[in-house]
Amino acid sequence: MAVLFHEASKTWHLTNDRVSYIIRVMENGQLENLYYGKKIHDRESFSHFHEEAMRSQMTICVDEPAMLAMHYTRQEFPSYGTGDYRSPMVTVLQENGSRISDFKYVSYRVYQGKAPMLPLPAVYVESPDEAETLEILLKDELTGVTATLIYTIYADYPVIVRSVRFANGGKAPVTLERALSASVEFLDMDYELVQLSGAWSRERYVKTRKLEMGLQGIQSLTGTCSSAEQNPFLALKRPGTGEMSGEVFGFSLVYSGNHLSQVEVSTFKLTRVLMGINPEGFSWKLDEGAVFQTPEVVMVYSDKGLNGMSQVYHRLYRTRLARGVWRDRPRPILLNNWEATYFDFNEEKLLAIARKAKEVGVELFVLDDGWFGARNDDRRGLGDWFVNTDKLPSGISGLSEKIEAMGLKFGLWVELEMVNKDSDLYRAHPDWLIHAPGRYESHARHQHVLDFSRPEVVDAIHDMIAKTLRESKISYIKWDMNRYMSEPWSCGLSADRQGEMMHRYILGVYDLYERLIREFPEILFESCASGGARFDPGMLFFAPQAWCSDDTDGAERQKIQYGTTYVYPLSSIGAHVSAVPNHQLMRVTPLETRANTAMFGTFGYELDLNLLSESEIAKVKQEIEFMKSHRELIQTDGDFYRLDNPFAGNRVGWIVVSSDKTKAVAMYGQRLNHVNGNWLRFKLAGLDPDRLYKVRCDITPSDDVPEFVRMVYGIKDGEHIYEAEAYGDELMNAGIPVDQSWMAMKGGDFTSLLFEIES
Ligand code: DGJ
Repeated sequence: MAVLFHEASKTWHLTNDRVSYIIRVMENGQLENLYYGKKIHDRESFSHFHEEAMRSQMTICVDEPAMLAMHYTRQEFPSYGTGDYRSPMVTVLQENGSRISDFKYVSYRVYQGKAPMLPLPAVYVESPDEAETLEILLKDELTGVTATLIYTIYADYPVIVRSVRFANGGKAPVTLERALSASVEFLDMDYELVQLSGAWSRERYVKTRKLEMGLQGIQSLTGTCSSAEQNPFLALKRPGTGEMSGEVFGFSLVYSGNHLSQVEVSTFKLTRVLMGINPEGFSWKLDEGAVFQTPEVVMVYSDKGLNGMSQVYHRLYRTRLARGVWRDRPRPILLNNWEATYFDFNEEKLLAIARKAKEVGVELFVLDDGWFGARNDDRRGLGDWFVNTDKLPSGISGLSEKIEAMGLKFGLWVELEMVNKDSDLYRAHPDWLIHAPGRYESHARHQHVLDFSRPEVVDAIHDMIAKTLRESKISYIKWDMNRYMSEPWSCGLSADRQGEMMHRYILGVYDLYERLIREFPEILFESCASGGARFDPGMLFFAPQAWCSDDTDGAERQKIQYGTTYVYPLSSIGAHVSAVPNHQLMRVTPLETRANTAMFGTFGYELDLNLLSESEIAKVKQEIEFMKSHRELIQTDGDFYRLDNPFAGNRVGWIVVSSDKTKAVAMYGQRLNHVNGNWLRFKLAGLDPDRLYKVRCDITPSDDVPEFVRMVYGIKDGEHIYEAEAYGDELMNAGIPVDQSWMAMKGGDFTSLLFEIES
């Protein structure tokens, strides 16, 4: 891995054995983006990659020795006002009203490793030889504003990380109206845009569309989070690219607030990708000497298809974005009481649920919403982070001790950024919520957003929650956040700084997280936002796992988790088995499918186990045993491959293969059952082609299959196990023959099979 610099041609080549990224200083002093893609040989000059042609109506910004026209040039740091009519990466408003800037090359430096970016989240290195960083300093001479373009290339990953640090070295304040993190330009438009879009309970569905001339992209303006609607991610893939082969460029923003990912294709077919903080509603005043750092974009290149891209994100985000003691530990199997009780619980009821959980092998009991203040429904109590002793007479400390005495760990739900008007906190500090003078104070779920752009608000919430954490035996925190922002205005900021509010809010959230994880390093944090509205890389830096979705139906979760794995590792995907009929869509999905799906995540239960039948409890025990013996492979070691796409057809399939390829776990599922159907083959991936594997799958029919049907299929009582021996190449190319009758016997619709593969 290296950052190579060629003095004569003023060219940088960031390269390792998989990727090349090439930039040069143009004749006008600005930077040109010459190449991004599969690794190519280094050369003294790549100026032959510069494309230039005489066009009518060209706006020429330099005549000699070259004739440059920014509109037709692939720029590294496009700015406003010098003849490029596409969207810029930066706009600087100056005192005289001008927004023109012209950032020219000044100097560069290269260093081993990567500098931390706190208070912003960022990927990191553990030793300096893991990566090399290039910083290129550019300056707009007239204003004195500088932009340092920061690039890190990792040695072992086809990854380049980009961000920008602005500084005002001039004599007058300026305002950044647009300060994006990265711009990359491709020479043609023959790509498809892949995005992860959705809504509450259907987060991160995979959407793919062909690029067209003009603007396309995704954005979020929800303020408090990256949103359920658009994940801060996009990829450009060549039309033939699938899961296993083909070229794809991934862009992932390490940020949890308003974001923009925009692709602009010019009528000359240049494709510009821009990513960063959404400029809508944003501005940042830079006084003389002040600095503004953008969040970073993690760019992954893959010539091994979408799985190739995802595996890089998984490994990088699991080991060099997530932090703390839980980063490398398999996750505890938990039981969360939310769907078991909602707000209707008392200590006795919770202890009964916990007792049963302990009996089946659960390790962590999590008390969700409703334990504090007057929180008996969602109209009141948020902000009052002290225990409701009517419900829990021995307090959180007493309850947590009782749970620990059972041999379970104890976890707690909080929603620290929110307040109900019916709360002591609001009555004491009505000015702490985000609101604008003279405007209606919109609410969502009867709650309002606390102004985390104000440090004193963050401090007060910190003190309240830290006290509870100190006084009780708490091993896990589920940090929820259940509304988007409205009337974004802060009484803590002057008029010329109101555009900073939403970014400052997110920095306040990050600050509180950072303080709590430092003070309570053993606590496992799970982020959450009405399900999966904050499933983003920014959050993973603080909380190594995130609640994936409020839709807990196994079959729906297969789609949601499938999309989530485009970027996020299985160790981060909060996934639970819940009751049937499912509370979100009333579907009765077999217990096995609910469990088989949740196993490809952090795994837990979200129901009252006392309500299950004896045979269901026996199954739950088996599931927990299975997960305990496979969670290292699934969560901390293996490579995950998507096999069958649930958005494309009736089947879903995926596999995790251990890093030494000696074992794997795979899931095959179907949506609707067929009668008298065709033969099915489940083709695996990632195995060693020359290794002989033993394949095992429990195909015992469901208890619900009627006697007559058992007779027709010749099914005998007792356990039924499919066992076979096969080479890796057979399993990957010919596949496992799946008998349609197994699926029928498992319960028909939404059934699934779990394969254990070992050599
Ligand atoms: C939304 C979360 O996604 C749920 O899991 C649950 O914690 C509720 N909030 C509680 O209000």
